[in-house]
Parts: sequence; structure tokens; C-alpha cells
Amino acid sequence: MLFIGIDLGTSAVKLLLVGEDGSVLRTVSREYPLSFPHPGWSEQEPSDWWDACVSGLGELLDGIDTGSVAGIGLGGQMHGLVALDENDRVLRPAILWNDGRTAEQVEYLNTVVGKDVLSARTANIAFAGFTAPKLLWMRKEEPERFARIDKIMLPKDYIQYRLTGVHACDYSDASGMLLLDVQHKRWSAEMLDVCGLREEQMPRLYESYEVTGTLLPEIAALLGLPESVKVVAGAGDNAAAAVGTGTVSDGDCNLSVGTSGTLFIASDAFRVDPHNALHAFAHASGGYHLMGCMLSAASCNKWFCEQILHTADFAAEQAAIKEENLGKNRVLFLPYLMGERSPVNDVDARGTFVGLSMDTSRADMVQSVLEGVAFALRDSLEVARSLGLTIERSKLCGGGAKSPLWRRILANVLGVRLDVPQTEEGPGYGGAMLAMVGCGLFPDVPAAARALVRVRETIEPDAALRALYDARYRQFKEIYPAVRDLYKKIK
Ligand code: XUL
Repeated sequence: MLFIGIDLGTSAVKLLLVGEDGSVLRTVSREYPLSFPHPGWSEQEPSDWWDACVSGLGELLDGIDTGSVAGIGLGGQMHGLVALDENDRVLRPAILWNDGRTAEQVEYLNTVVGKDVLSARTANIAFAGFTAPKLLWMRKEEPERFARIDKIMLPKDYIQYRLTGVHACDYSDASGMLLLDVQHKRWSAEMLDVCGLREEQMPRLYESYEVTGTLLPEIAALLGLPESVKVVAGAGDNAAAAVGTGTVSDGDCNLSVGTSGTLFIASDAFRVDPHNALHAFAHASGGYHLMGCMLSAASCNKWFCEQILHTADFAAEQAAIKEENLGKNRVLFLPYLMGERSPVNDVDARGTFVGLSMDTSRADMVQSVLEGVAFALRDSLEVARSLGLTIERSKLCGGGAKSPLWRRILANVLGVRLDVPQTEEGPGYGGAMLAMVGCGLFPDVPAAARALVRVRETIEPDAALRALYDARYRQFKEIYPAVRDLYKKIK
């Protein structure tokens, strides 16, 4: 039997063909455009996602015995609003997880509806990227389009809908809408009411490993796959990545350094951060998790190298960084290029370099970008530690995890041992694992993780370097409060 994992990311879709022994037989990636129609806005065309999936699947399956494909599982960028009319036409470009246009709606939700009420209903408060504020924005700014909404869905669920015709969503991804009663795993009638929605417009809810349907006949013909291929509900990309890295037991931690950066802590029992700095979401394993999310992680390095230095050779830039400068860089960088979510929750925050001087080198600045991302992830880790969670070890995945230097910086800034799994494609691999569970190959997600996930390398923090980074982190912490008010003035 063969399984397909689809990771519908922000810069590209990554497709994996996985054998039943867990080996990755083939990977294909297809990029699509991301548009920023106004500063702080972030949109994509759902048709671009679909076209990329169809063309990527064509390449993935080329020359393969497609009759052996048993299941498909998706992981996808979370929170994005996809709205369809009654003829299944997409009403507007999807508004993505890193879009910051909803400051007014977030303010309304957090102050008028109230954080306590939101937290009691959904286990979370409002953040600009979440789906509910986007719905309120659309209702106010585009009332005609809003009135034509027949169904809303999240990005990966749009692909799943095109594959199966089933309007479905899993609990992990639904958690990020601010419309789900996360603890009881049902839509919150009160929150649907706040957003002017009816339950018929919402997808049906599933566990991530549950089968939602099989391929529509015309789609099976288009892809050259049997109609019997089962599609599971899949998961938000962070929960899917956590499955793919084996982060499924109580207290397990996963760090993902992709376009966004996340700290993900699995929990058997439902729990909420009393200050709601960390998100309290359902996990794809059937349990729950706490998560901190920074909006720009590996994307900061990509931005700095590609847009500013005009190079795509990230390794060459990092090779110029001297070992003896680790922990001693006098340049600090705040990685808030798209505003920031966890824990500062500020759509107006922006990227900031501090400490430049005439002897600052290009390598110092590249280093400061890698370090700034690590410091911002540590902010979420410190929140988790303040809740009494002990995190001494974590899995690591995402594009940023491919850099040995960045891995070392992360291990030492965070002060945790980092385990790099054999398969780096976290969300896509997790999607394929969920499909295996849905097709009965494993009784549950933890059993699949035990059987399939292996650690390839562990990065140990070094006591001396950790101490240097602790001191730098304390300085990093002082920057945002010092400049916060300025960001609002230079908008
Ligand atoms: C999580 C989040 C991001 C996206 C990235 O809350 O917004 O990690 O899921 O795709």
C-alpha cells in the first residue's frame, strides 16, 4: 500500500509518497504566489493551491503503480479564510494566517466580547490571524460578498473538498478559528452568532485520522488514482508536523522553523494558558496541545538573504559566520516582519535591527537574523516554563532546521536538546501517517509514531554558549518594550 501526504504550506505545497513501512519514496514541491495587497495583508488564491496540488500529484505519481495508493492525508497552513458561494465559487482570495488587517476586529473581540468570555467559549483569545476576526472584517468591509457565503473552510479543507466533495474539518485546524469549543470539540453556537454565521455554513468536524470520504470519480480520473482512495480529515500544519516528528505523548515538544516558527507541546488532557499567550488547541492524535506561534521565522532569513542581500545561497552566507562570534554578536534583530503573534500579539510591530556600527559585517547581520528568530521562539518557551512545564528536549523540523548552524543557535538559545527526525518533511509526513491510521494500518496515531519516527541527530546545548546566549536574550527582551510605541507612529 502507498500513502500520499500533502503539506499545503504558505510558499509551496509539498507532496510525499510514502510506503507502508514509512519510507519516503518520492517528494515533489510546487510553489505558488503570495500577495501582500496592502502592508500587513497576506492573501493567496485557492485555485493556485489546487492547480499546484494537481500538477504536483501528476509528477509524484508518474510511473507509480497508482492502484496501490490507499490513502491521502493533508496538513495545511492554519487559520486562512476560504469562503465559497452556493455554486462553490471562491468569493475572494483567501486571507491568510499572517494577515494583520483585523486589528479593529481583534480589539472588538478581546475587549467588547471580552477575553474571559472568549477563553471560556473557545479556550483562546483573538489574534489577528485567526479566522473569526477575518469574518468580522469581511462582514464590515465586504458586506455583499459576506452575504453570499454558503460555506467557509480552511486552506487544506478546500483541497480536501475538491478531492472528495465533503465539507469537512478536523479539530486541530478548527481550533484556530476561534469558533470551536476546543475542550468539548464542537462549534461554539455563541461564537458563530458573534460572527453572523449559521452552523450549516460550517464544515462537519472529524478527528484528524478519520476518513471523510473517497475521491470524486472525476478527480480520480484526473489524477489517475482509484476512486477507492480514502482521504482522512488531516490536520493544521503544526499538529500534522507534530505527528510527523512523533510529538504525540503528554509533554512532548516540537519546534517548527518554517515560514512561521512554532513551539508545540502535546498534552493528553485539555489545558489552557491562564493568560492565553499560548494557544490551547486540539491535537491530531486525539488529545490537545499548547502552542506559541511567531509569524516570521525562516521567512526572516529568506527575506534578508533574497530581498536585501540578493542571494539565494543561504549556506554561503552562514559559512561566513565565525564560531567565536556565537553568543557575542553586538547586533540584535527583532523578527517581527509581519507583526507578531505569540507572545506579544501586536500587528503593528516590525522588524528592527539594534546595535549597528561601522564595523558591523554582513555576516553579523545574517547571524543576528538567525539569532533573533531563536530569541523570539524562546519567548514562547519562557511562557511554557512559567506554566510549570519542563522542556529539556524537543523535536525540530521545518526548512530552518536544515541549517546546522541555525540548529546549534536554537539549541543554545533555548537551552534544550534538539532531536532532528530522519524525515524532515514534518506536516506532509504527518499527513501520510494520519492516512495510514485512517486506512487501518495502525490502531492509533501514537502507535504509528512509535513504529515510524526515528531520530537522526541530536544537538546538545553547550553550557558556556548557553550562558552567553542567556545574557544576549535578556538584552533582546528589552528591545520590544522600548520601541513598541514607535511602531504605531511609523505605520
Ligand atoms: C499557527 C500558524 C502558522 C501557520 C503556518 O497558529 O498560524 O504556524 O499554520 O502555516
